[in-house]
Amino acid sequence: MNAMPQWAFVNNEFRPFSEAALPIEDRGTQFGDGVYEVARVYRGTMFGLEDHVQRMLQGAAVIEIEHKWTVDSLRTIFKELIARNDQQDGIVYWQLTRGTAPRNHVFPHGVEANLMAYTRDYPNLSASWENGIKVIVTKDIRWLMCHVKSVNLLPNVLAKDAAARQGAGEALFEREGFGVIEGGSSNVFMIKDGVLKTPPLSHHILPGITRSYVLQLAAAAGIPAEEAYFGRQELVAADEVFITSTGIEVMPVVEVAEAVIGNGAPGPLTRTLQQAYEGKISETTGGR
Ligand code: PDD
Repeated sequence: MNAMPQWAFVNNEFRPFSEAALPIEDRGTQFGDGVYEVARVYRGTMFGLEDHVQRMLQGAAVIEIEHKWTVDSLRTIFKELIARNDQQDGIVYWQLTRGTAPRNHVFPHGVEANLMAYTRDYPNLSASWENGIKVIVTKDIRWLMCHVKSVNLLPNVLAKDAAARQGAGEALFEREGFGVIEGGSSNVFMIKDGVLKTPPLSHHILPGITRSYVLQLAAAAGIPAEEAYFGRQELVAADEVFITSTGIEVMPVVEVAEAVIGNGAPGPLTRTLQQAYEGKISETTGGR
């Protein structure tokens, strides 16, 4: 597992992974001036590719990165990358930064954006999917453009490392006035009395692709859902809690800030949604 991939895409060409590098003055490195995406690969096929690319294009537009990339041109590159690396199961990571220029906070002009992409194996999470994980709750110290998937991840890195040090699998951010809003790298859902709840889309959270799929799958399964804010106390009193992301998919949460959720085991509606998500993976990629 996690063998080094053979190939990466950088500066408009495929390069051996071990030699691929970004320039020292890449603006992503110096200023976090860029956007990124992570998509899953199952059986050599990218899952939700178009949704991920659209989100990246929107984010790049919000922060005014000028670039030449389209859904089709990116798809072509990712396909070749997956084939070159024979990446049957794993992820594709890619990022688009405002290019390379002498260091200056002000945008450079007439500079080509830097696209970098590579694939990686992804760990098997079976035990966590089966048993659920615990999470901590921490103050959201992030900025006001969390809907842009920017490479500025320091608050997320600090929060998730604090969680790991406490034996937890995720840190949920609590933002003053909005409640528990999302995880360090996931969206959050709770279920109370048969109703699914997740915070509404806003500039305080990432519009998770897994989140949108889960809402669609819940509707198809006849599970009532609300996009509404909830606080820590309401969350802790939930019957079921789960978090979602491209990597962890639908992950049951059995302990929030040391409080046990329900009976301490993944709940029935979480299981229904896990299965529905598995069904969607199989339908679109042929399965794991
Ligand atoms: N993170 N919220 C945040 C802050 C995230 O970073 C992520 C994903 C999500 C879930 O989004 P999606 O369902 O589209 O993956 C929500 C990726 C996986 C990462 O940084 O590794």
